[in-house]
Formats: sequence, structure tokens, C-alpha cells
Amino acid sequence: MKRAKVSVIGAGQVGGIVAFQLAQKELADVVLVDIVEGMPQGKALDMSQTSGVEHFDAKVTGTNNYADIKDSDIVVITAGVARKPGMTREDLLKINADIVKKAAESVKLYAPEAIIISVTNPLDIMTQLVYKTTGFKKNKVLGMAGVLDSARFALFIAEELKVSIKDIFPMLLGSHGDTMVPLPRYTTVSGIPLTELLPAEKIAKLSERARNGGAEIVALLKTGSAYFAPGSSAVAMVESILKDQKRILPSCVYLEGEYGIKGVFIGVPVKIGKDGVEQIVELKLNAEELALLKKSAEAVAKGVTELGL
Ligand code: APR
Repeated sequence: MKRAKVSVIGAGQVGGIVAFQLAQKELADVVLVDIVEGMPQGKALDMSQTSGVEHFDAKVTGTNNYADIKDSDIVVITAGVARKPGMTREDLLKINADIVKKAAESVKLYAPEAIIISVTNPLDIMTQLVYKTTGFKKNKVLGMAGVLDSARFALFIAEELKVSIKDIFPMLLGSHGDTMVPLPRYTTVSGIPLTELLPAEKIAKLSERARNGGAEIVALLKTGSAYFAPGSSAVAMVESILKDQKRILPSCVYLEGEYGIKGVFIGVPVKIGKDGVEQIVELKLNAEELALLKKSAEAVAKGVTELGL
């Protein structure tokens, strides 16, 4: 059987982690694409050499030529400029739109059958740009945000409760930004609703920390943004597709009436399998939760309009 092919556009910090984990887990042969000459080739060679230590069978190659993504099963787009301290995701909008548009055009040209996972920020708007640019079916375009945001939420809950993170099942919705909607009612610790384990004020603090999870890391790193957890999160989505796991993961997808929202990419729980988005799970939200999700969708729609999409 042929090993799957996954291309990663943007061989920077996030792209590097994605490629490395995919190879180490033997999920696919990986093609790393970047505009910087020599860099993707160098990273690919370095990663390939770890296979002599870790003993994994997967090929990693680096290239500056988009044509090398030909016939990829999945393309992960991480190309762009990372957030600097004080910069909001929206500040990145114009710069990253040009880069992501070019990447999406290349996927359309060279890998028209691929499923795309977009990672570049501002996430929800860039995912919509990928969808518009490629004209791919909506099940084949997903944005990575919810897995990361919920992983952050899970970590803070596990630390607060002093329990294993393995038993935390977080759920959150909305945009990958300030209007993210953590859902304590649907977050459980071994099946126990979080709301039964922590007081509302404590949950609000943890939710706020998850919402600012990216900015907290930017402020510490000073020269870039998070990459370990973002990379892992994208790989979890790739794995669910390649192994047809049908995991329910919060992901940024195109809504056409679900949750009363139309024509916008936003984070909701999604069943992810070999066809990409296989089902959008509609939670029974209360009025407050629904209002927050709609507000989040409005923020994305505003950015989408700014780009003229
Ligand atoms: N084609 C391919 N690669 C490109 C292009 C392009 N047109 N333009 C820029 N790149 C590359 C850069 O050369 C760089 O190597 O994208 C890479 C981005 O890597 P980093 O600057 O290290 O940024 P990273 O931390 O990986 O974040 C990438 O993911 O999480 C988001 O907010 C983050 O939008 C950012 C993206």
C-alpha cells in the first residue's frame, strides 16, 4: 500500500513541528515547502536524519517549488508571518492573505483532490480565503484552532484540579481569537461536568486564560508565536483524516445554517474522517452561549468583508 502524502506549506516553526510529528508517527511522506531558499531542504534533511535514531519509515523532503506538492492527500498551510508582541491576529490579516492566497492557488493547481487544513492566522478568515480561492467542496477545507484552544483549556483545568490531563474532555466554539467561546457545560472531567467541580469565577478565569493562550506565549517568546501545541493540533486533525478515525474535534468549518449561522467559517465540533468534515455536531446551546457564538461569527464576517471575500 502506498504511504499517504502530506505537504506542509510554510516550513517555519509550526510547519517544522507538523512535518516532524507526521514523519515520527509514520503517518505520511512529507513535503515541506517554503520560499526561503535551502531552509526547507535543510530542515527536511535534518529531520530525515533523526530516522536513523528514532527508526521511523517516512520520507521528508524540502522544496521551494510548489509543483512538488503534486497529488498530496492533505495540504497543511502554515505559511505566513507570525504574530509579534502587541500585534493582534487581525493585524496580520492583509500580509497573510496574500501569502495564503498564493498557497491556496497552488493547491488548486497541483493537488486538486487534497483536503486542506489551514493554520495561518487570523485563522477563521484565512480558512475562508482558502475555501474561496480553491473553490473546493466545504468538507475539504478545515481550519485548525479548536483543537489547540481546547488543549490549552484542558491544561489549565488539569493544573487547577490537579488531575491527569488524559481525563479532561474540553469543548469550546467560535473564532480563534478574543471572541472564542469556551463551553464549561460541555467540558467534562471523566464524564463529570466541569461546572460541578469548580466555581463559576474559577472557570471564568481558566476560560480567559485559554482565550489569551496565544498572546501569553507571544509575550514570553517575544520573537514569535506558539508552535509546539499548534503543530501537534494540526497533526491530530491530519491523523483523524488519514486513519479515518472520525474523531469529534472542534474545527473551523463552513456553516450554512448550523447554529443559525450562514456563510462563515467558525469553530464548532466536527466529525473528521477520510472525507474531511463528515458531520457538524450541533450542540443545544443556551441563549447566552449562542449569543457569544454569533458575536464571534460576526467578528469573522467583518474580517472576511475587509478582505472583500
Ligand atoms: N510560500 C511558502 N512559504 C511562505 C510564503 C509563501 N508565499 N511566505 C512566507 N512563507 C514562510 C516563511 O518563509 C516562514 O518560513 O512561512 C513560514 C512561517 O514560519 P514562521 O515565521 O516560523 O511562523 P510560524 O510560527 O510557523 O507561524 C505560522 O501559523 O500559528 C500560525 O500565527 C501563526 O500565522 C502564523 C503561522
